[in-house]
Amino acid sequence: MSPDFSSPWQEFCRSCMECKACSLYKERKQAVIWRGSVKAPLLILGEGPGAQEDLQGKPFVGRSGMMLDDLLEALQIPEEKFHIANVVKCRPPGNRAPSVEEARACRPLLNKQFQFVQPQVIMLMGASAYKFFTGDLDGKISQVRGQWIHKGSYWILPTFHPAYILRNNTQKDKLWDDFKMLRSKMEELDFIEPITTVGI
Ligand code: URA
Repeated sequence: MSPDFSSPWQEFCRSCMECKACSLYKERKQAVIWRGSVKAPLLILGEGPGAQEDLQGKPFVGRSGMMLDDLLEALQIPEEKFHIANVVKCRPPGNRAPSVEEARACRPLLNKQFQFVQPQVIMLMGASAYKFFTGDLDGKISQVRGQWIHKGSYWILPTFHPAYILRNNTQKDKLWDDFKMLRSKMEELDFIEPITTVGI
């Protein structure tokens, strides 16, 4: 059966899959667009697809994704509350970081995606997500992580990328702290109920 491109969201996905705005399309198996809910209060932004994501067509399905899923599950942030995306939708060869030009070429599609998702809280995972989303190209993720940026209607929280934590396990507590801050903000904004632990 041919895919159904009849809704505006599906039409958007088709435009991503056909995109040739930069040279990354040449080596992709497929464009990697999203997972979670189309419309969600929280948008989690990563860098770009890796090998697993390129194969499966969904962001964060490899080792970094397992860590992300563990955090979301531990903090009881359900799938209908988040949308996961990346700065670039096509895999940079050898898992290198996307270039400024590639991130710029992909930005119109990311902006369009934001219009569908309408997030209010944005988690920026890693240096590429921070730099390219905010435009602070010289920013250091270790200096800006764990501090809210309130810009327009957005609450933006930069944090480390799970892949960095997989290489530097000593920093794990910082990622956990940032995700706890994220949960508190979502509670404060009434997007989720506080966690209640059932006692005996
Ligand atoms: N790393 C990312 O930044 N994004 C993915 O989708 C997977 C790994």
